[in-house]
Amino acid sequence: MIAVKKRVVNELGEEIDQAQDDFADRLFTLESENGVGGEFEVVANKVLDEEIILDSKKYILSKTDKKGIIEYGNEYFVEISGYREDELIGQPHNIIRHPDMPKVVFKLLWKRIQNRENIVAVVKNLAKDGRYYWVMTEFEIKIDKITNEITGYFAYRKAAPRKAIEQIAPLYKKLLDIEKASGLEGSQKYLAALLEAEHKTYDQFIDEVTGRNSGMMKLWFMAMKKFFS
Ligand SMILES: Cc1cc2nc3c(=O)[nH]c(=O)nc-3n(C[C@H](O)[C@H](O)[C@H](O)COP(=O)(O)O)c2cc1C
Repeated sequence: MIAVKKRVVNELGEEIDQAQDDFADRLFTLESENGVGGEFEVVANKVLDEEIILDSKKYILSKTDKKGIIEYGNEYFVEISGYREDELIGQPHNIIRHPDMPKVVFKLLWKRIQNRENIVAVVKNLAKDGRYYWVMTEFEIKIDKITNEITGYFAYRKAAPRKAIEQIAPLYKKLLDIEKASGLEGSQKYLAALLEAEHKTYDQFIDEVTGRNSGMMKLWFMAMKKFFS
């Protein structure tokens, strides 16, 4: 099986964009000739500076196994991600990872969910066509009642509030710059120092930034979890 994954940032200029489009066309031809899920499995990602504005009344739901392999996605997830359902199922969730996301957020996310705790995360995701969308995510940990082991995770997402994006986007950029210069350790230290200076935990910070503590947001996520469990 040949797997080709291409991520190109459009800041590199028009010439690169053109080459990228040619590349995408070639991949499409390969894909049509060989059939999806056949001998060739091809994913082409480009990155565009274009936002997909989410419907604030809709939610994006996905379920993964304990390793983060997608097992289910609701209709809105399929629609917004731009992938077909069968392109998502069986893929690692980083299929929609955006290169603007700092690693430190995912490190924290995994640490918390593996510890069987929820975390609220504001995430910039990458759609198949290269556009992005911001979500606010919460998790539910699925545990086998007999073995008491984690069997998988649910992620419930809503459009991130605009005010939250305005505060989070520059912070993520800073964290990413630090990661490029001094690795994950650097961004972890920066985030810890920032929270300490503000006398806040990560949860307090995120609740404040997203307005999740305002009640409505909390109720919404609780209702979603109840509905799907
Ligand atoms: C239930 C669940 C949902 C996830 N949702 C997303 C998501 O929407 N976007 C994303 O980039 N990563 C998501 N992740 C995290 C990915 O598994 C992965 O850690 C992340 O994309 C970073 O990729 P990397 O580890 O290859 O750097 C999710 C993980 C789980 C368990």
